[in-house]
Amino acid sequence: MAPAPRRLTGETATVRVWDGPIRIFHWSLAVLLPLAWWTAQQGQMGWHRLIGYAIAGLLAFRLWWGVAGGSTARFAGFVKGPRTVARYAASLFRGSEPGPPGHNPMGGWSVLALLTLLIAEVGLGLFSVDVDGEASGPLADRVSFDAGRFAAHWHHLLFNGLLALIGLHLCAIAFYAAVKRDNLIGPMLTGVGARGEGFRPAARWRLWAGLALAGGVALALAKGLKF
Ligand code: HEM
Ligand code: HEM
Repeated sequence: MAPAPRRLTGETATVRVWDGPIRIFHWSLAVLLPLAWWTAQQGQMGWHRLIGYAIAGLLAFRLWWGVAGGSTARFAGFVKGPRTVARYAASLFRGSEPGPPGHNPMGGWSVLALLTLLIAEVGLGLFSVDVDGEASGPLADRVSFDAGRFAAHWHHLLFNGLLALIGLHLCAIAFYAAVKRDNLIGPMLTGVGARGEGFRPAARWRLWAGLALAGGVALALAKGLKF
């Protein structure tokens, strides 16, 4: 494995916080999600489904990267138990020392919540049927019309849940910037931050395996799992 990058810019040391795949995953999601909403509003269901498959591929990649990716991407590294979360929450308004690079113990759970909701949203979309039964997900023919309508109903409701969680996500980032003077956006854009140490990158083959998995999942869903 290559050593974690560490370089000096002027007086400040910059260290690797996020690897490229996580950043591409994140910003692709931030672009594709509003597009999914917009295409649904416009009744552009062909585009809506295509965007949905792309999001499904991204999510498959993220699950893989959560066990095989760089150290800050791994679930085992950032999903903490209730005691650690409570201790972290209690220290939120104190001027505590910044922790290691990556998600903090509260952020870790919000990442899991976001990923779970996104997976459920895509899953429901796959089975959704619209009122006249014309714009349907590729797996809608596997279930009854009523079940397809039920999926569409929850697809609609869950989208509002997602919006609420994304709103919370943006508020948390604004809180860190304004109150804790911690810029989280910079590292998600550039990959590097000014604090923390010990990032371990993933081997290159894991990236290729993740890309193959993502492409395979997106294609298989687009074909309605009919081969
Ligand atoms: C559709 C909108 C968005 C969604 C669904 C979303 C989702 C996510 C997810 C799932 C993560 C965890 C990354 C990972 O480990 O996989 C994350 C992290 C992050 N997001 Fe977003 N995001 C959205 C929009 C934004 C926007 C607009 C910004 C910037 C203003 C932003 C800034 C960040 C930052 C800074 C992190 C890293 C937080 C940390 O340091 O722990 N996100 N986001
Ligand atoms: C995270 C990804 C997705 C998001 C954010 C999303 C969002 C939405 C939204 C906001 C609507 C309009 C709901 C309403 O107001 O009634 C909608 C409708 C729909 N979506 Fe998605 N969607 C996603 C993925 C998918 C996928 C993967 C499929 C299938 C391939 C799909 C199939 C449908 C269908 C068939 C409808 C029409 C349901 C109806 O008219 O009642 N969606 N989606």
